[in-house]
Amino acid sequence: MRLMLAPMEGVVDHAMRELLTGLGGIDRCVTEFVRVTDRLLPARVFKRLCPELANGGKTSAGVPVYVQILGGDPQVVAENAALAAELGAPGIDLNFGCPAKSVNNSNGGSILLREPERVHAIVAAARDFLPQSTPLSVKIRLGYEDQSNFLDIVRGINAAGATELTIHARTKRHGYRPPAYWEEIALARQIIDIPIIANGEIWNPADALRCQQVSGCVDLMLGRGALCRPDLPRLIEANSRGITRLPLEWPEVLLLIKRFYELNLDSYDARHAANPVKQWLVYLRMHYFQANLLFEDIKRLHEPDDVWGVLNLALGRKISPPPISNMSAE
Ligand SMILES: Cc1cc2nc3c(=O)[nH]c(=O)nc-3n(C[C@H](O)[C@H](O)[C@H](O)COP(=O)(O)O)c2cc1C
Repeated sequence: MRLMLAPMEGVVDHAMRELLTGLGGIDRCVTEFVRVTDRLLPARVFKRLCPELANGGKTSAGVPVYVQILGGDPQVVAENAALAAELGAPGIDLNFGCPAKSVNNSNGGSILLREPERVHAIVAAARDFLPQSTPLSVKIRLGYEDQSNFLDIVRGINAAGATELTIHARTKRHGYRPPAYWEEIALARQIIDIPIIANGEIWNPADALRCQQVSGCVDLMLGRGALCRPDLPRLIEANSRGITRLPLEWPEVLLLIKRFYELNLDSYDARHAANPVKQWLVYLRMHYFQANLLFEDIKRLHEPDDVWGVLNLALGRKISPPPISNMSAE
């Protein structure tokens, strides 16, 4: 089994990849998408979104980071993919899943799923421009409005020479609403042989197992679940080997949050460095009730001294769980 950390624009950046891959269990990351429209982008754009390029395309923990490209013009996508590979990307991923209006309006992301031939042409052009040794993965949803093109798209991507396919098991129309239709992925597995990576709605080790059973996929991609529970990848990995691993406790998560803030102070100007921390707390509070308290304490703060103050206080204080109602306590 391999576990991939999902690309998440504005959320899973270099700092988050550093932190999460440092915990173990993740086999590969993908950058936030690099959007290309009508020209070859300067190298600095790739280096900014993927600082790992300076480290052989890997995080400090040695996990490869594929560069994700989003665009609708085969030639332009292919040229930019080739540049990213030249800059040291260990693999390229093409995005055909983004539901954002601004992206879809400029002919990129999930809207391309309405045109299977165009998806095929983009993947084929990228394959053609890339060195044979560079893996080319593709990420799709089940469709745009509906699933009518799904299997044609899958066949086309395979015929165009992609090495792997990640399927987020929902249409653009489904957005991010549960459920994810893992059973549809099983249909794709019947018609192509390249590895398929199943994605969508995996929040705990039991979900991972069910997703594998229903989709028939061995490999999985984790998005929001890994943000809510930073140790989810290693829990799933341990579970798959029949090993029981204790989940991360809140004090350990607090240390990660502190480290995350430090990493962000390196890359953002000081007054904005707390923003990614606040954003992460919104995910963390779905699993750790303490994250909600911390979020309330931090949400209006910008000055590093204030933010450090709150973080250090949290590190030093013991938080008890919410009281159990009298009925159940008896
Ligand atoms: C805030 C956010 C940003 C995302 N950005 C990207 C992106 O840049 N590229 C991409 O292919 N998918 C992106 N996605 C989709 C995720 O990679 C993933 O397919 C989706 O969240 C479903 O997985 P999950 O249920 O495990 O979160 C994004 C999702 C979210 C919620």
